[in-house]
Amino acid sequence: MCGIVGYVGGREAANVIISGLHRLEYRGYDSAGLAVIHPDGVLDVFKCKGKVDDLERFLQGKNAGGTIGIGHTRWATHGEPSDANAHPHLSRSGDLALIHNGIIENYRVLRDALRTQGFTFRSSTDSEVLVNLIEYVRDEHRCSLEEAVREALSQVVGAYAIAVIERGDTSRIIAARKSSPMAIGVGDGEYFLSSDAASIIGFTQDFVYLNDGEIAVIERGKPLHIMTLDGAESPVAIQKLRLSISQLEKGGFDHFMLKEIHEQPETLEDCIRGRVIPGTREVILSGVLDNKERFLAARRIIFVACGTSWHASLIGEHLIESMCRIPVEVEYASEFRYRDPVIYPDDIVIAVSQSGETADTLAAVGMARKAGAFVYGICNVVGSSIPRATHSGTYIHVGPEIGVASTKAFTGQVTVMAMMALLIGRLKGTIDEGYYHRVAQAILELPATIREALKTAPEVASLARMFTYAHNFIYLGRGYNYPTALEGALKLKEISYIHAEGLPAAEMKHGPIALIDAEMPTVAIATPDSTYEKTLSNIEEIKARGGKIIAVVCKGDDLVRRSADYCIEVPSTVECLMPVVSIVPLQFLSYYIATYKGRNVDQPRNLAKSVTVE
Ligand code: AGP
Ligand code: GLU
Repeated sequence: MCGIVGYVGGREAANVIISGLHRLEYRGYDSAGLAVIHPDGVLDVFKCKGKVDDLERFLQGKNAGGTIGIGHTRWATHGEPSDANAHPHLSRSGDLALIHNGIIENYRVLRDALRTQGFTFRSSTDSEVLVNLIEYVRDEHRCSLEEAVREALSQVVGAYAIAVIERGDTSRIIAARKSSPMAIGVGDGEYFLSSDAASIIGFTQDFVYLNDGEIAVIERGKPLHIMTLDGAESPVAIQKLRLSISQLEKGGFDHFMLKEIHEQPETLEDCIRGRVIPGTREVILSGVLDNKERFLAARRIIFVACGTSWHASLIGEHLIESMCRIPVEVEYASEFRYRDPVIYPDDIVIAVSQSGETADTLAAVGMARKAGAFVYGICNVVGSSIPRATHSGTYIHVGPEIGVASTKAFTGQVTVMAMMALLIGRLKGTIDEGYYHRVAQAILELPATIREALKTAPEVASLARMFTYAHNFIYLGRGYNYPTALEGALKLKEISYIHAEGLPAAEMKHGPIALIDAEMPTVAIATPDSTYEKTLSNIEEIKARGGKIIAVVCKGDDLVRRSADYCIEVPSTVECLMPVVSIVPLQFLSYYIATYKGRNVDQPRNLAKSVTVE
C-alpha cells in the first residue's frame, strides 16, 4: 500500500522519482524518501515524514545528483509515520538502500537473529530488517547483491515489492516482488520502476510486469535479467500500456473523485464497447466464452471482494441468480480466507477488485485455486496481481481510478456483471429472450442514462450544504438498491468522516428506527421496482418520527415527494441496472458534503487507494 519508484539511465534520478511519487501518493502518503548514488559512487538517502511536497522541500539545497535512484511514499504498517521509519532504509554499513511495499510477517524472528550478529536498528519497521538481512547474507556468503537478495527473500514470509541499490554501483537496481505490485518501464537506454505503471507513463509505454517470486537485475545499458527465487531464468515479456498523461491529471476538476464521477458516461462506453453489439445486442465476453463449459457446469458462484467491490458483488449475486439460476454467495475476502470455507472444484470463484492488488482478495484467489475452483477476475488495473493470479477474467476498462473513494469502478463492475449475467443466462437458456434484449439495450443506453443522472450535481451540491452538520446518516434501499444504499453510505463515511450506515429498508423496524430523530437524516432510494410501495411505507414511518428524508426517485415520481423532504430525480432504466444510475447522486452527495467540510477528498485520512497489506 505504498508507492515505489526507481530509475537508472541518463536523466537526473531525483527528478524522475519525485514525479513518479506524486502520481503514486494515492497509494499511501504518510512519509516519503529517496536514495541516489552520486556519480562518484556515494550513496545518499533523503527522507522525511509527510507528503511528497514535504520531501521536495526537504531536498532543497541538498545534493541529490545522480542518474540512479529509488524512491518511496509510505502507508505505514509497522512503525508510526516518522522520519526514521520513512523509506529508503539503509543497511548497517550504509552500503545498501532498500524500499519496500508490503509486510515482512516474520520480521521479528529475523530481527532477533540479526541482533545476535550485532545488528542494530534505526527504525521500528519490518523493512529495515530486510535490508540488513540482505547485507548479512551478502557479507556471509561474499556474493553478488542479486544473490544476496535471492537468498534473503527465501527466508522471508510475507508480501513484498522491493528495490535495492548498492553504494559504489552506479548501474544496477535489484528489484523483486511477491504479492505486491511491481512494473519495470523500459525506455531508450533507461529503466524505470514503479508500483503502478501509470505513474511513469510520461516516460515510456513499454512495461515488464514482475510476477510473484521473480527478481529483476535492472542494469544501465544491459538487457533486463529476470529470474525466479530458485535462480531459474524468467522470460522478459514487454507489454505496451496505452494511457495518456491527461488521464492521470484532474482534467480541470477540483478533485480526481469529481472527475471520475463525471467521466462515468465515457468510462461505461469503454467498458461496454465491443461487448454488447448494437443492433443484435449480442454479448461478447471472451473470458466467459472461452470458458463456457465451466459456467454451464457451475453449481455455485462465490464472489470474493472488499469494500465497494463487495457492494458491487451483492448486485452481481442478484443479477446472476435472477438471470442464470446459479446459486451465488458473496464473501468478504478477509473473512473467506480465514474461515476454512468449503470450496468445490465445480465452484466458480469471482474475485472483484478495482486495483487488482487487495491483499485479502488476492489471498482468497490463491485459496480458491488451491481448492480446484475455477477463478475469474473482474478488475480494472491491467496486469495487476489478481488478474495474473486468476484463470480468466474481464477487465472493467474504466481507466485509472485515482480518488480513494471508488466511483467509476463501481459502475463499471456492476455493468460487467450485468453483461456476464446476460451472456451466461443465454448460454444456459435460463433468460427470457425479450428480457434479454431489454436489458442488453438498456446497457447500450447506460452512458446516455448516466449522463442524464450527472445533471443532478447542482441540486445535490446545494442540498449537501444543509447536511454538513450531521454526525450520522442512514441509507435505505431494497432489492437491487440495498447494495446501492451500502455503497452510498460507504462513500459518505470514507470521505466526509460522517458515520453512515446502509440498511435494507425493511430492517428499520427491527431496531434502527429507534435512531430516527431530527438530527439523523435518512437517504432512501425509492426508484420504481417490485418493492417500491414498501419503501414508500418505510419513508412515511421515518417521517412520522421527525426524521429528515432525502429520497432518490425516478423522474415524474409524485408519490414519494409527498413524504420526503427532498427528492432527487434520476432517469429510469431496467430495475437491475438502477444501481448504476441511482448511485450517481449519492456519489455527488458524499463529494459535496466532504468538500464543504474541507476534507481531503482524494486522499482521506487513514485510507489508501489500494489495501495491499492485510
Ligand atoms: C471504496 O471507495 C474504498 N476505497 C474501498 O472500500 C475499496 O473498494 C476496497 O479497498 C477494495 O478495493 P479494490 O476494489 O481495489 O479491491
Ligand atoms: N511494511 C512497511 C512499513 O511499514 C511498508 C509499508 C508499505 O507498504 O508502505 O514501512
